[in-house]
Amino acid sequence: MRKLHLRTVATLLFLSGVGLIAGTAYAEDRILTVYFSRVGTSRSFAGVDAVSSASLPSGNTIVIANMIHEAVGGDMFQIVTVTPYPAAYRDTTDLALKEQQDKARPRLATHVKKMGDYDVIFLGYPDWWGTLPMPLFTFLTEYDFSGKTIIPFCTHEGSGLGSSERDIARLCPNAKLLDGLAVRGSSVDGAQKTVQNWLAGLGYGSAKKTKSPTP
Ligand SMILES: Cc1cc2nc3c(=O)[nH]c(=O)nc-3n(C[C@H](O)[C@H](O)[C@H](O)COP(=O)(O)O)c2cc1C
Repeated sequence: MRKLHLRTVATLLFLSGVGLIAGTAYAEDRILTVYFSRVGTSRSFAGVDAVSSASLPSGNTIVIANMIHEAVGGDMFQIVTVTPYPAAYRDTTDLALKEQQDKARPRLATHVKKMGDYDVIFLGYPDWWGTLPMPLFTFLTEYDFSGKTIIPFCTHEGSGLGSSERDIARLCPNAKLLDGLAVRGSSVDGAQKTVQNWLAGLGYGSAKKTKSPTP
């Protein structure tokens, strides 16, 4: 009996060692899935709760954020700006371009209460003009991400992640950045398998749900 117990302990130690070497994600990771999307942040959707309303067309990035959250557990957080983006698509693209040229830092209406509670941040956004929307720049400079792992995912219509990973690395030099996922906006509904494979490659198998930190 004692021999069996020792063997079990040795096996567990070996497996955890393998996990560490391979950089496997563990169930103890405290995960926050953060996302920004035009839906819920534009005047066209003002007054409607984008996440809970079933009748509302969902933002592309929200769809992927939900898939990730479903697979890895933890908490979710939506970045919302104080000033909503214009209802018209074209007005939004014009404004977003100007914000990028001006290196604007749009003020945020939502804030993470205790960022210290999280080790891993899945960070989701639409590609805006080849990189992160400027509210993401605000978000990434608002908190200290030192020692945390940031895992980007974006939706786009051709540019993929663009230069967003480089921008995240520049804004958060002391964070660990893992390989991001880019999904075409028009393909988000069929992206379940792509998301699962990407997560598995990062060490987040479907069985590895994590706990939320106690509030
Ligand atoms: C302001 C703005 C700028 C955009 N710029 C790009 C771009 O440079 N490259 C690209 O592939 N898609 C671009 N798009 C398309 C979005 O990235 C794409 O539709 C995304 O899936 C939208 O996600 P959402 O519904 O969560 O907002 C842009 C969209 C907007 C509104």
